[in-house]
Amino acid sequence: MAQDLLAQNQPIRRGMDDLVVDTTAISWVDGQHGRLFYRGYRVEDLGKNAGFEEIAYLLLCGSLPNQQQLTSFTWRLRQLSHTPEKIIRILQELPRHTAPLAALQTALAALGCTDPGPKYSEEETLLGLAMRIIAQTPIILAAIYRLNQGASILAAREDLSHAENFLYMLTGKVPSPQHTRAMEIALILQMDHGFNSSTFTARAVASTLTNMYAATSAAVGALSGPLHGGASEQVVEMLAEVEEWGDVDSYLNHLFARGGKIMGMGHRVYKQTDPRAVVFEGLLEELSRGEREAKDIKTLAYIAERARARFSERQQSIHVNVDFWSGAVYRRLGIQPVLFPAIFAAARIVGWCSHIIELRQNNRLYRPLSMYTGPVDLPFIPIKDRNK
Ligand code: ACO
Repeated sequence: MAQDLLAQNQPIRRGMDDLVVDTTAISWVDGQHGRLFYRGYRVEDLGKNAGFEEIAYLLLCGSLPNQQQLTSFTWRLRQLSHTPEKIIRILQELPRHTAPLAALQTALAALGCTDPGPKYSEEETLLGLAMRIIAQTPIILAAIYRLNQGASILAAREDLSHAENFLYMLTGKVPSPQHTRAMEIALILQMDHGFNSSTFTARAVASTLTNMYAATSAAVGALSGPLHGGASEQVVEMLAEVEEWGDVDSYLNHLFARGGKIMGMGHRVYKQTDPRAVVFEGLLEELSRGEREAKDIKTLAYIAERARARFSERQQSIHVNVDFWSGAVYRRLGIQPVLFPAIFAAARIVGWCSHIIELRQNNRLYRPLSMYTGPVDLPFIPIKDRNK
């Protein structure tokens, strides 16, 4: 086969750069113009005007809900907000400082073992499964976080919305309307993003016709890498490093000299500013109003400016991405950096489930080729004759 591929002069797309592997009607990342659409709507518009449940419905079901559909969807989501005691016990058994995404990956796989099994039609079952996983994810994450912080686990409250509950279960306080809206917008902005690594993973795993728990758990594994979902936490670490170096320019000189990367900058698809970063920056400003000295905002803005100047000198089109400002927003919501990458999962879980549902409507096993570059037809040497 390798010879065949070579003979056909087949290009190898390492990292699948610019490779189109399937169609989707869920989201479109227009990297050239810095735009992101969910089912045709600009993400900024959705963030400004809608709630978590409304946009989750849009992605899962294909169109915006009417009031009756939204009420019923929200009610069903709340009914599914009780995490099995067994899952909580598994989380309690994990080492206290297990990374939240590693714990979530474990919990989602375990949740699959507690699923009562199909009750409805294939379509109903898939949507029901998706809603169960979406409802459970913030509860599991909040439990992981509270264990990490040495605090007692809180159950979801029936009188709170999805975003309110998430913040309540994390911090132990019913959030203000401003904080609730900020969390809701943050979740909406990160719900879907074309065939990013974790979504591709979810689809590749789901294409074997395995269950939704296995596919979403694998997607969490993909998200946990620093090149994908881990950057928001590392941006906050970068702020601490800048402090140690004394100023931004010395820090950047050191970073560039050793070929390091600035976390929260760069993107495979965007050749313009990531539109989600713009909304996050605005959110941060709103949440920081009244703060006498928002030092982190000033430092981040200066890092972005100085880094952009250096990238321009090298003719590189590298801009801030969604993770650049998000950590500073979460800090203002009273959340510790250890959870930042996992908040991404609480949002992206909606996209992963939507993609699995979409794929199932016309499934095809994902099975790419590789070009083999090793030897062939080697004679087998018995162990007693090796390394002589
Ligand atoms: N800082 C410094 N240089 C960078 C950065 C950065 N953040 N991003 C890209 N570059 C440089 C690379 O060093 C490389 O330079 P070279 O051609 O001289 O070797 C060039 O730009 C291309 O970089 P790649 O890593 O090949 O670009 P790719 O499209 O594969 O990378 C990625 C995208 C992985 C996001 C990259 O920009 C990066 O590592 N950024 C930092 C991590 C980050 O913020 N991740 C979150 C991404 S958004 C998300 O997944 C939620």
